[in-house]
Amino acid sequence: MSPNNYLLLFTFLTIFLLTSLTPPSFSNELSLRLQLTHIDAGLNLTVHELLGRAAARSKTRMAWFAHIRKKEGQAPIFWGRKNNYAGEYLMNFDVGTPPRKLPFIVDTGSSLVWTQCKPCLDCISQPVPYFDPKNSSSFSKLPCSSKQCTDLGFDYSSNCSAKPDCHFEYIYADESKSIGYLALEKVTFRYSTESSNLIMKIAIGCASINRGSMAHSSGIVGFGRSAESLVSQLGITRFSYCFIPFIPINTKRSHMFLGNRALSNSGDQSTPLLHDNEYYYVSLSGITVGSKRLLFQPNFFERKKDRTRGTIFDSGSFSTFLWTDVFNAVKNAFEFEINLPVANNTLTNDYKLCFHTPTNPEKIPNLVLHFKGADMDLPRENYVVYSTEKKLLCVVIDEEKNLSAMNIIGNSYQQNMNVLYDLENQMLSFGPAQCDQL
Ligand SMILES: *[C@@H]1O[C@H](CO)[C@@H](O)[C@H](O)[C@H]1NC(C)=O
Ligand SMILES: *[C@@H]1O[C@H](CO)[C@@H](O)[C@H](O)[C@H]1NC(C)=O
Ligand SMILES: *[C@@H]1O[C@H](CO)[C@@H](O)[C@H](O)[C@H]1NC(C)=O
Ligand SMILES: *[C@@H]1O[C@H](CO)[C@@H](O)[C@H](O)[C@H]1NC(C)=O
Ligand SMILES: *[C@@H]1O[C@H](CO)[C@@H](O)[C@H](O)[C@H]1NC(C)=O
Repeated sequence: MSPNNYLLLFTFLTIFLLTSLTPPSFSNELSLRLQLTHIDAGLNLTVHELLGRAAARSKTRMAWFAHIRKKEGQAPIFWGRKNNYAGEYLMNFDVGTPPRKLPFIVDTGSSLVWTQCKPCLDCISQPVPYFDPKNSSSFSKLPCSSKQCTDLGFDYSSNCSAKPDCHFEYIYADESKSIGYLALEKVTFRYSTESSNLIMKIAIGCASINRGSMAHSSGIVGFGRSAESLVSQLGITRFSYCFIPFIPINTKRSHMFLGNRALSNSGDQSTPLLHDNEYYYVSLSGITVGSKRLLFQPNFFERKKDRTRGTIFDSGSFSTFLWTDVFNAVKNAFEFEINLPVANNTLTNDYKLCFHTPTNPEKIPNLVLHFKGADMDLPRENYVVYSTEKKLLCVVIDEEKNLSAMNIIGNSYQQNMNVLYDLENQMLSFGPAQCDQL
């Protein structure tokens, strides 16, 4: 065993002891270990197909973020175009009484917890029967005037005399629609090792959507920073996840840890989370490609007071998106450092930086993201992918053309890392981990 493995083992033992000593009786002692399933797991797709789908989903997600930015509504719900759902990992938990196990897309970029509900004239097909509130004895609609409803601040929830329910309606630019209402309902999280379950009443959305794809889910579980997110409603002060690498295709599960189980390993690096009521913003300060740190003006990456620019950590996008200037600088640096012909006909239209190579090269330039107080020295498999089919090596990086928008650190860069969101101390920490061994 290497010293690192001992350290990991020690950490696991510590986590085990800590969690077995603290019964999950109330929320600040809550301790949950939840399995995550990648939405393309089990579909028997080729690496080429998986990469194309992941990049396409990322673009859908960018379009969704752009809609929200344009203030076309505080969209609690996002949808997929061309059957691409803008999410990456699924989590199951039980809803209602008697409990119904439902699959949810995990999303750190939105906050509402919602599922498709009966009666729905126009629901999107999903892998399990629609949730039927009539079958649940613990279900109750929230009135329009309730605090939870007011907290949501939906544009359409303001006229309580017209609609007594906490109604939300969202019309997207392409005229697709999401309609629903908010309810109080019991949710149950099953502990994998402890004998008891966590049972709580939370506000969840009951929705029917007329367009898009649910991608094997029945809804979304928002881990964002607003009052309605699962994090806020469970009252937890920390959560972490560890994503197993997406390629090569892996049948093992990724995990998410809530509450006391979410710990950082010694040696993990930390950077401050910036204050925001939706996204997890961090301070990116620079990027190194190969041995060269790219040159940018001081404060170039800073988030502005009007919430434009800045950089967020995201679990729901595979790709990493950087402003055109940054993207071009990274692209030029790779082209300079890597001794391979640049590919103009890329893997799919979705990868914008690819190289022709008959074999997956042994050596490629390093990629390091510099955050305030923390350097993310990326493992190779987190930022380059190789398609044997096309004999192309591609860098997982995409371009954000709107310079007022935010950069997005996608989940491929976070693979095989313990990523901890410490909300009590407003820090995000990360460090290498073997996510398939948790
Ligand atoms: C997966 O797909 C390949 C090629 O299409 C096929 O040969 C194989 O039988 C499939 N495996 C499973 C488990 O479906
Ligand atoms: C709801 O209850 C009805 C009547 O008891 C039953 O037929 C139906 O299968 C239930 N639906 C679900 C989704 O549980
Ligand atoms: C609220 O709804 C009522 C009943 O439909 C309507 O008369 C009223 O004009 C609406 N108020 C606003 C501010 O939209
Ligand atoms: C790709 O396009 C650029 C400019 O458009 C050109 O300089 C380069 O030679 C092309 N590469 C290949 C491999 O065709
Ligand atoms: C770019 O983003 C800004 C703010 O984030 C937004 O106001 C503007 O509409 C966006 N522009 C385009 C073309 O999407």
